[in-house]
Amino acid sequence: MPNPSFRIVPATADMLPDIVQLEEACFSAPWTRKMLEAELTGNQFAHFLVAVGCEEGKTTESIIGYHCFWIVFEELRLMNLAVRPSMRRKGIGRALALEAVRVGVGLAANRALLEVRASNEAAQGLYRKLGFVPISTRRQYYTNPTEDAVIMELIPLVVPENEREARLFPVGSGSVSAH
Ligand SMILES: CC(C)(COP(=O)(O)OP(=O)(O)OC[C@H]1O[C@@H](n2cnc3c(N)ncnc32)[C@H](O)[C@@H]1OP(=O)(O)O)[C@@H](O)C(=O)NCCC(=O)NCCS
Repeated sequence: MPNPSFRIVPATADMLPDIVQLEEACFSAPWTRKMLEAELTGNQFAHFLVAVGCEEGKTTESIIGYHCFWIVFEELRLMNLAVRPSMRRKGIGRALALEAVRVGVGLAANRALLEVRASNEAAQGLYRKLGFVPISTRRQYYTNPTEDAVIMELIPLVVPENEREARLFPVGSGSVSAH
């Protein structure tokens, strides 16, 4: 059973300010507003999902996670995945990553690739649990701080047996209140 305390919906342009704020809270070298906007509105390969839910102690919903990924023909590329710090270790990142796999499989992608900071044990742990394996390293790929990227691959692209139930809601199925 999916955790009912959050849901995943496609992002819309009006969510951009909240996504920018989340991005800045989660990364030392965050994507800029312009980059995020380009992914959200101007990239035919990009898919953008948000997780919506109530942070502990709050009564209104907000965006608590997001995931931007590309599907370029047969390849799924996980581009940026983030969960609000106060909402981590509740399965939200995993659910967002799984939805990308599900969408990729639905669009006939057959492998997934991603880059992750060498020191990012949380993200690497999450990806490993989904079946990704490290295949190579890109030296000094990241800035602020300078760091290698580990390239991870999932091939073939399949939704794990016990995760077949989609949790992605169709566009317009839920309202998101700004914070
Ligand atoms: C990486 C990130 C998205 C994980 O989100 P999350 O919602 O906390 O992840 P989940 O709760 O779904 O965790 C799934 C699994 O990932 C692994 N994991 C997650 N956080 C971890 C941590 N801090 N340390 C070790 N393993 C971790 C665990 O295996 C976990 O399963 P478990 O909780 O059953 O042990 C989140 O830490 C984040 O936003 N980090 C900053 C941004 C970032 O680094 N994004 C990834 C860019 S490649």
